[in-house]
Amino acid sequence: MVGVGVIAIVGAGPGLGAAVARRFGREGFDVALLARDRNRLDLLVRELGEAGVTARGFPADVRRPEELARALGEAGRELGTVEVLQYSPVPHRDFMRPVLDTGHRDLVGPIEFSVYGPVAAVQQVLPGMRRLGRGTILLVNGGTAVVPHTERAGTSVAFAAESAYGHLLHERLAGEGIHVAQLVIPGAITPGHARKDPDVLAEKLWTMHRERRGFRHYADDLDSR
Ligand SMILES: NC(=O)c1ccc[n+]([C@@H]2O[C@H](COP(=O)([O-])OP(=O)(O)OC[C@H]3O[C@@H](n4cnc5c(N)ncnc54)[C@H](OP(=O)(O)O)[C@@H]3O)[C@@H](O)[C@H]2O)c1
Repeated sequence: MVGVGVIAIVGAGPGLGAAVARRFGREGFDVALLARDRNRLDLLVRELGEAGVTARGFPADVRRPEELARALGEAGRELGTVEVLQYSPVPHRDFMRPVLDTGHRDLVGPIEFSVYGPVAAVQQVLPGMRRLGRGTILLVNGGTAVVPHTERAGTSVAFAAESAYGHLLHERLAGEGIHVAQLVIPGAITPGHARKDPDVLAEKLWTMHRERRGFRHYADDLDSR
């Protein structure tokens, strides 16, 4: 059976990625899962299949923009036009160094990850969304996207740039029925937490997709841990 639409989750792991796949899957979406490790993707695809969700894995490293674009292209050909794009790979620990220990080379990884990756992904899927006349782009970030942290310079700098890119897209694409929004998750994703359990966050992302209001949304208070 063909689903109601296709969501591509870039950076799909067992936490938020899987929860969003289940939430959109429950609504009839088919799911393209993108991450580096093929075995973990296969496992996730199997688990989602057992829950009645049609999912396929497309291995790609978001730090290789051509590879990411190719994988999203393949997802579109196999599952259908990507109508919802979520960009949510979990940042590498090395991106979170103190500001005075951060040289320009230390920013290459964070910028590749949080700027080149989203730009490559958006450029790949946007023509399809424009043809459909609808689409949703969801960016997921930590609290440093809003309040930079002296001990996490790489993500602070790169998330700010990603936020600016998302905001620009939000303004530019709203008139075309393509909604661009960001979910900021302060502190850690925590199973069982009233606001930061992966399933609660997935519900929030589903609501953002459905209600199509504003660019920036918060999962919790900014000073929460
Ligand atoms: N976890 C937290 O406490 C927390 C807190 C605040 C915000 N967030 C945000 O929540 C999202 C992540 O949610 P989660 O932590 O529950 O993660 P998740 O969905 O369980 O997994 C994310 C996946 O990202 C993939 N990934 C990492 N580097 C990648 C790369 N270079 N290319 C492609 N894929 C890559 C990893 O798979 P591979 O290793 O197979 O590539 C990983 O399994 C991110 O947007 C993050 O900024 C998380």
